[in-house]
Amino acid sequence: MSLFQVQGLVKRFGGLLATDHVSLTVESGEIHALIGPNGAGKTTLVNQISGLLAPDAGRIVLDGQDLTHLPMHRRVALGLSRCFQVTRIFPNQSVRDNLVLAVQAHSGSSFRFLQPRASAHGLYERAEQLAERVGLQHQLDGLAGALPHGAQRTLDVALALAAKPKLLLLDEPMAGMGPDESLQMVELIDTLRRDMAVLLIEHDMDAVFRLADRISVLVYGRVLTSGTPDAIRNNAEVQAVYLGTETLETAE
Ligand SMILES: Nc1ncnc2c1ncn2[C@@H]1O[C@H](COP(=O)(O)OP(=O)(O)OP(=O)(O)O)[C@@H](O)[C@H]1O
Ligand SMILES: [Mg+2]
Repeated sequence: MSLFQVQGLVKRFGGLLATDHVSLTVESGEIHALIGPNGAGKTTLVNQISGLLAPDAGRIVLDGQDLTHLPMHRRVALGLSRCFQVTRIFPNQSVRDNLVLAVQAHSGSSFRFLQPRASAHGLYERAEQLAERVGLQHQLDGLAGALPHGAQRTLDVALALAAKPKLLLLDEPMAGMGPDESLQMVELIDTLRRDMAVLLIEHDMDAVFRLADRISVLVYGRVLTSGTPDAIRNNAEVQAVYLGTETLETAE
């Protein structure tokens, strides 16, 4: 069975079918990219997966657990984390304190009961490990709000990693980044597949084609097709959807 399954998900906004019976799977260790034109329903889908929006029909299953009707924090506890297009960092706190707060939020009660004295030390150690994991170890003492845009997005990824997700949802992680920052984010996401599966929504086709093991194309709320990057690049229907907006041919 796949690590993650969305089955027949439906979301209506009045007369608009924003998610039209969407089904997709993500396997362990897979980076699955979700692409599609503006307004295709990508964010609406991610909002339902993370628990921000309630679907009208369908099921969401992670590692055998039905998440469809669980509140967000329960989904996070069961292994589903997301990054936000609008970041959730505390700008007036240091990078270290942002990470410590995130680690603390996700350390279970057993951890606190078993190691009352060691716990503060453990939190700081874990925060530093996370900083190192994403390459922010030299910025730990700076204010999070003073970091460049790309580093703030990187910190947002680290905050999501604090929950030790089985599946990480990334909604346009490269948005607003320059070429160097984008490249660094691609390299970071590439390392994540060692530890988790990733559902990646991104308009940057270079990034998508460099990272994705599989790509699903969403159009008007429906999955047009799912396949390997090569299959998607050569799919005539997909090319027609992107004609005049973004070209898939330039993406290697
Ligand atoms: N809360 C809402 N109420 C009503 N309509 C909405 C709401 N959220 C989204 N929509 C509509 O649902 C459709 C899908 O929007 P969504 O934001 O999911 O698309 P998207 O694929 O993420 O687009 P983009 O690439 O621009 O981020 C759009 O037509 C949008 O206008
Ligand atoms: Mg969106």
